[in-house]
Amino acid sequence: MSHLAALVLAAGQSRRMASPLSKVLHPVAGRPLLHYSIAAARAAGATRVVVVTSARDRDLIEQYLLGAFGAELIRIRVQDPPRGTGDAARAGLEALPDAGRVLILYGDVPLIQDTDVSRLAACSADPHQLGLGTCRLRDPRGYGRILRDASGQVVGIIEQRDLKDASQAAIDEINTGLLSVDAGALRSALAGLRTDNAQGEYYLTDIVPWFAQRGGVHTVELSEDAVTGVNDRVQLCAAQDRMFARIAQRHRMAGCSIATGAYIDDAVQLGKDVTVMAGAHLRGQTHVGDGSVIDVGCVLDDARIGPGVTLLPYSVVSESEVGPGCQLGPFTHVRPKSVLEAEVKLGNFVETKATRLRRGAKANHLSYLGDGDVGENSNIGAGTIFCNYDGFAKHKTIIGKDVFIGSDSQLIAPVTVGDGAYVATASSVTEDVPPDALAIGRSKQSNKPGYASRLKARLKAEAQKSGKGH
Ligand code: UD1
Ligand code: MG
Repeated sequence: MSHLAALVLAAGQSRRMASPLSKVLHPVAGRPLLHYSIAAARAAGATRVVVVTSARDRDLIEQYLLGAFGAELIRIRVQDPPRGTGDAARAGLEALPDAGRVLILYGDVPLIQDTDVSRLAACSADPHQLGLGTCRLRDPRGYGRILRDASGQVVGIIEQRDLKDASQAAIDEINTGLLSVDAGALRSALAGLRTDNAQGEYYLTDIVPWFAQRGGVHTVELSEDAVTGVNDRVQLCAAQDRMFARIAQRHRMAGCSIATGAYIDDAVQLGKDVTVMAGAHLRGQTHVGDGSVIDVGCVLDDARIGPGVTLLPYSVVSESEVGPGCQLGPFTHVRPKSVLEAEVKLGNFVETKATRLRRGAKANHLSYLGDGDVGENSNIGAGTIFCNYDGFAKHKTIIGKDVFIGSDSQLIAPVTVGDGAYVATASSVTEDVPPDALAIGRSKQSNKPGYASRLKARLKAEAQKSGKGH
């Protein structure tokens, strides 16, 4: 079988985005929108994808694509200046062998479906025949219209700005931009292009007559998704909404309960029977294990959530691991490099950063646990702070297993608390605590009997004297 290649055209200027960032790098459901055309080409069997970019965007686009798809698949070619889609195809062809089937796609149609691209890829093997992706639109304005002769054969494409009369304008069969063509034939056809059109550009669509006179044009009617492009931020938002809806549907079909209004990025993986409630955002390379529940408003960024986990409302997990059976929230904040082993419980307003909590450890209320290691089944009382930062460097707090840290304690790192130790409530722990020891790090209380009413009377008199009393 001969190899299939793809050309993805993405060198347009995209001024309507009004952005310093290349249009095709704007995210749609967590991936740059260019990603989707390339993924669809790969799914259709392309083993080489040449992406045509502007000189300005080249480096960022190359960096992303090599990371996401690898150097085996991706080649970058620059088109500078952009002189039309025909000129862009010519620039891209430089990176391809002389013959063989080539798919041509645009880089700004993120909703494109794998099945559409695959159907086009399979439509013809005749080097002199052009495969042309078309679509019928109720409102064809803005698109190139397909021209057919009396016998129904495609003879050309006319661009919106070059329309000659109302009957051409009324044609509802349009060019999606998706083509399947032989590389050698394309080279020959491109050599004949001229710029005598309304935009003074080399139109890729002008290759159609070359093929019409030889092997003909084989049209494949595609879904509207193949043509739903992104040119401005309104369309970007609409495309992203469609993409989120499609992703949610995919997970529902696979047996997960995804509420309307949950946002799940394309790269996120869900196990079986996962529940995601409204307002939850699952981003990046997040993975959620079987049977876990992600409640309302949770935000997960590159998080690995094990099976049987419950994240109660408004919990945030970033670049961290949450093991099987853990329960977090509401309002727990797990910051990068945290590792929660199995059955850890963190409650409201507990923040962790670069901290490991081992099996069964708990911190149920109002704590900051930074740069720490908490042993199995240890309990961190309400209001505990790991004081990890002295203004210059970070230090570690190591807590053994079965330790009890009383509420409102500060562990002033570097510090170690041995297995089975007990830290009394409201302690400032500045020295290591040996295993099984009781540490009390607070000033002793003294009671002065009958002193309260005397103190109040004195304070009241002073306030009246200074005119501030009431
Ligand atoms: C193009 C087609 C039109 C079709 C429509 C579908 C041509 C002449 N017209 O029109 O028939 O109905 O798409 O959306 O092909 N690009 C480059 N270099 C350039 C110009 C464009 O790489 O010099 C890239 C753009 O980044 C984009 C794609 O080619 O990804 C299409 O360019 P665009 O300007 O949007 O073409 P349209 O005028 O919409
Ligand atoms: Mg366009």
